[in-house]
Amino acid sequence: MRSYRRVTVQVSITLLFFFLSYQLISRYSTVVYRPIGSDHGKTNTGVSTPTAAPPAPTTDRDYPQRIVAFWDSFSKIVFSNRPKCPAPKKLNEGATTVGYNPLALENATRPHLINMSRVDVEEMKAAHTEFVSRMVDSAPKLPYRAGTRGLVTTAGGPYMPTLVVSLRMLRLTGSRLPVEVFLASHSEFEPRLCDHILPSLNARCVVLSDILEAVPEPLEIEKYQFKVFAMLFSSFEDILFFDADNMVIYKPEELFNSEPYVSTGMVTWPDFWASTASDLFYEITSQPPPPLSARASTESGQVLISKKSHATTLFLAVYYNYWGPEHYYPLLSQGAPGEGDKETFIAAAMALNAPFYSVKERVSAIGYKDLEGEWHGTAMVQYHPFDDYNLTKHNLSRLVDESVAPTPRRAFVHANFPKVNPSTILTDKAVTKYSNGTRHRMWGPREDTIEKFGKDLEKDVWEQVMYVGCDLEHEFASWRLKKGICDEIKVFWKEVLEKEERRHS
Ligand SMILES: *[C@@H]1O[C@H](CO)[C@@H](O)[C@H](O)[C@H]1NC(C)=O
Ligand SMILES: *[C@@H]1O[C@H](CO)[C@@H](O)[C@H](O)[C@H]1NC(C)=O
Ligand SMILES: *[C@@H]1O[C@H](CO)[C@@H](O)[C@H](O)[C@H]1NC(C)=O
Ligand SMILES: *[C@@H]1O[C@H](CO)[C@@H](O)[C@H](O)[C@H]1NC(C)=O
Ligand SMILES: *[C@@H]1O[C@H](CO)[C@@H](O)[C@H](O)[C@H]1NC(C)=O
Repeated sequence: MRSYRRVTVQVSITLLFFFLSYQLISRYSTVVYRPIGSDHGKTNTGVSTPTAAPPAPTTDRDYPQRIVAFWDSFSKIVFSNRPKCPAPKKLNEGATTVGYNPLALENATRPHLINMSRVDVEEMKAAHTEFVSRMVDSAPKLPYRAGTRGLVTTAGGPYMPTLVVSLRMLRLTGSRLPVEVFLASHSEFEPRLCDHILPSLNARCVVLSDILEAVPEPLEIEKYQFKVFAMLFSSFEDILFFDADNMVIYKPEELFNSEPYVSTGMVTWPDFWASTASDLFYEITSQPPPPLSARASTESGQVLISKKSHATTLFLAVYYNYWGPEHYYPLLSQGAPGEGDKETFIAAAMALNAPFYSVKERVSAIGYKDLEGEWHGTAMVQYHPFDDYNLTKHNLSRLVDESVAPTPRRAFVHANFPKVNPSTILTDKAVTKYSNGTRHRMWGPREDTIEKFGKDLEKDVWEQVMYVGCDLEHEFASWRLKKGICDEIKVFWKEVLEKEERRHS
């Protein structure tokens, strides 16, 4: 149940807390952070030791108050335009997924798996229409620090070790962009991590409850709704949102500086599957349903978005997420796997006719073959939006004919299952050990990896895993009771990577 709680005394205390933690973080980032003198602007040479980046701008110190004031006002518009009907009911088990193939989907019809009365559809439509017009007429201006760019993610607790691996991979690209890491509450604020380790990677912790609970009438928001709030509350004007388990392997500065971001201000990436959104969603949001062949469903492990040009897109995405679990998520996915925030970003842009570019190149899987010859996927690869956009612009489609152009550059490796957490990647799932006991790589043969990524990217990952698992073995709250993380990684390193190294030298 979402409820509308009244909190009065707590407000000023949390505000103060929030303000102090921002101050503290700014101070630390100037102390701990080591800019790299003569190395400025040089691209990475392949040496896999991450370099530091300059501190985030510390101007605009009243940003925390501005964002709280914004949320105080905007949350009322979200709450007061609730869909005043029962949650749409899903029939049966929900949608089965169909791989996205535009040619095969040419004449396909959308699944109809929602049972909703006409009265309820009209009710949701009325609330949606009212929200959109209130939002356009009277929403407060969305605060951000003008001219800033950065990455945004949500993490906390068991996700922190994986995040640090991802951040170190990000720095290997030569990127110096700041990162904001949104945590649910102060119980997730680990001082060693937030005050020292993350700042040394130009990342800082922002506590979401400091904003959500600083308003007189807080809304209850669950962890799986946090992504859009991290984007909404981020201080950056231009945002690359990335899941904590998603490794940015292409310098993101270039994604911001090139098409299609420059002209659209919003870029999304595809999932493996065709859309399973209901026709009713399009009726409720007053737009014609796009053909199923138009684009794949969304894999929201990475999203590029401009707070300047897409404030209303974010506002409407907040509406779809806040009223998501009961009303909008079922309409947008009809029970397909991964139902949640993933479709809400494009849905909002489409409903508002806002420009965006959805990358066409199919997401691909990387993985390994077991001794029985069975292939196991261990991560998803997403591609460079400029390369993809350039083909679209020339009316070339690799979805129709792969041979029209070479594979675009690879930009992200989203290792969502299993996660590259140094404490579990070698033990929980048998993704690095054959049934005969011999250890192996998780992403397939070294030569294939070099061919795909232009270098031995998996080795880079293991170097970061080694650093996090050994140098930071005692730094994470979630590892307090774990033993032997570093030893396990060293064994793997010796048995797999060192052996290969000897063979190739
Ligand atoms: C879609 O319908 C058209 C017209 O009936 C037909 O020519 C075409 O083959 C169909 N496509 C598929 C993928 O079934
Ligand atoms: C849809 O819901 C109504 C009202 O709850 C119910 O009477 C009807 O049988 C349902 N239809 C299907 C196909 O389940
Ligand atoms: C864009 O795509 C076209 C067609 O494949 C190609 O000839 C051109 O070199 C590409 N441009 C860039 C800048 O990659
Ligand atoms: C691509 O196709 C569209 C529509 O058919 C056409 O208007 C445009 O000129 C074409 N562009 C190129 C670069 O061929
Ligand atoms: C297990 O299988 C791999 C792959 O065929 C092989 O290289 C390795 O030597 C085997 N290990 C043992 C202990 O037999």
